[in-house]
Amino acid sequence: MAHNVTQKIIAAHLVSGELQAGSPISIRIDQTLTQDATGTMAYLQFEALGLPKVRTELSVSYVDHNMLQSGFENADDHRFLQSFAAKYGIHFSRPGNGICHQVHLERFSKPGRTLLGSDSHTPTSGGAGMLAIGAGGLDIALAMGGLAFNLNMPQVIGVKLTGRLQPFVSAKDIILEVLRRKTVKGGVGKVFEYFGPGVASLSVPARSTITNMGAELGATTSVFPSDAVTRAYLKAQGREADWSEWVADAGASYDEVLEIDLDTLEPLIACPHSPDNVKTVREVAGTPVAQVAIGSCTNSSYTDLMTVSAMLKGKVVAEGVSLGISPGSRQVMEMVTQDGGLLNFIGAGARILESACGPCIGMGFAPPSEGVSIRSFNRNFYGRSGTKNAAVYLASPETCAACALTGVITDPRDLGMAPIQVDLPGQFLVDDRMIVAPAGEPEKVEVLRGPNIAKLPVNHAAPDEIRGSVLIRLGDDITTDHIMPAGAKVLPLRSNLPAISEYVFHVVDESFPSRAKSSGGGFIVAGHNYGQGSSREHAALAPRYLGVKAVLVQSFARIHLANLINFGILPLTFVNAADYEKMQAGDELALDIRGLGLGKTLLLQDLSQGIEIAVQPQLASERDLELIRKGGALSWASEQLEK
Ligand code: F3S
Repeated sequence: MAHNVTQKIIAAHLVSGELQAGSPISIRIDQTLTQDATGTMAYLQFEALGLPKVRTELSVSYVDHNMLQSGFENADDHRFLQSFAAKYGIHFSRPGNGICHQVHLERFSKPGRTLLGSDSHTPTSGGAGMLAIGAGGLDIALAMGGLAFNLNMPQVIGVKLTGRLQPFVSAKDIILEVLRRKTVKGGVGKVFEYFGPGVASLSVPARSTITNMGAELGATTSVFPSDAVTRAYLKAQGREADWSEWVADAGASYDEVLEIDLDTLEPLIACPHSPDNVKTVREVAGTPVAQVAIGSCTNSSYTDLMTVSAMLKGKVVAEGVSLGISPGSRQVMEMVTQDGGLLNFIGAGARILESACGPCIGMGFAPPSEGVSIRSFNRNFYGRSGTKNAAVYLASPETCAACALTGVITDPRDLGMAPIQVDLPGQFLVDDRMIVAPAGEPEKVEVLRGPNIAKLPVNHAAPDEIRGSVLIRLGDDITTDHIMPAGAKVLPLRSNLPAISEYVFHVVDESFPSRAKSSGGGFIVAGHNYGQGSSREHAALAPRYLGVKAVLVQSFARIHLANLINFGILPLTFVNAADYEKMQAGDELALDIRGLGLGKTLLLQDLSQGIEIAVQPQLASERDLELIRKGGALSWASEQLEK
């Protein structure tokens, strides 16, 4: 049967399941990547598996998010990550070497391989023909342990590119056009695969701008074929041996096809506060601009920055505009410097920021109050820039440069400049000395933990009977922010489970952590939609640490339900909704779970009131059952793995 590229890569990695859209499959993972903000917990989880070394073909730890060192926490994290990598067979990209996705594309991407990363923009390497998927820290830890990754076989949406991009229109405009048509919800459960005659005219970094921002569609990932262009890119990176061809078979089909004519595509811009709120730049032209930021994992390649440099050459940014430029990697920074780009930036009055995420997550370059910021980035959600009332627009580097020069939103075609052609270099400047290989004698390496890094406890198998009191009784719509708040005080504690657990339910009831610990754990009772909001794993990890054994509610939010199971907390719903009213905080409960099975109802004893309450465990598969029986995914996995 004729297969598209997505199906070919999945077929080559299939551990179980069938290539039938929507059906559960598990696939082998070749490579993993982490960044520092999510990596510390992923490595603590890997450590809890008890393996001496990662079992992937390649794992890389990057440092690009928490770069501000105004206290010891981030610096300690970086040192922990470096020593952990050395000991467990992981490559370590040192702070200063660049943003994870850009560096991974340059130095490690490999066509036809699978990559799982603890960052949502991991699909960037799809530009080099990888199947690159973003996931939670626990999934990365299990993949590093050699376990397969579970997902539903995605639908494959074919995006057919015809024609050729016109001057001052670039890859960012292609993905903005896809977002305009499909919206931020249009990609759930889907892979976007690019094909057609227009593909050959796009360089690998341009393709990666598109696959990077495919994350904003909610897609599983996005992928380009691996062709002669990919080969030339890898050759220029000194890695031609990593190339192999991955193109769709003749006659391959897609679940849906979108067609984009590159000849007629115009410069586009995503308006506040969503990446799919897309208009043509000319529609919003003339809006005054306070800040321009060029960089991020989306648009800070050599070609992007050299194009901007050519536009800025000999000019100065408009009086009311602050322009910040953060090159995507040390390789880009060095080459742009060598080829004169940096001189043009400095001459134009740009502020040069380090090769890291920085302004993308509101660090170090926030816009002024109510200011308009034009960014070459991928997200413009409310408040993400660091200034709550700022209006952030997303556009191509060309549009960003035009706005910086004029001080108002400007279509770059309206500057009257001659077309700019920046070719990819035939040879990149390759210097991997900032990437530290794993230690030759790992047994001699000591993992350096500052006071903020605490080992994760391993849970034990579930007992036959769960006993404990109702620790708290809550209403409807409890969010993961209620359970485990974020914020400046709490975030630095994400690698310190005992410390972060002290904040569980702080916004609702400050005495919860001490009560849970002193009573040896127990139950949480709540109404509908429990755990809505972010996918934060800590909202399950921290209650479990405090001894929470089961959560009994009217209904769960989907991702939090999965997290509860992963960390060994039994999720239960009331069979009779009215029973919720009967339960009181402090009631002593007992639940015999020997009869735990798929679809089986259990009887919960409320010993304080002398009543029985029918409850339904929310477990959908044999795997879920196993995870609960074994005390969670980490203890389950460490039993599975041969050490
Ligand atoms: Fe960093 Fe922003 Fe990309 S936080 S990884 S530059 S989306």
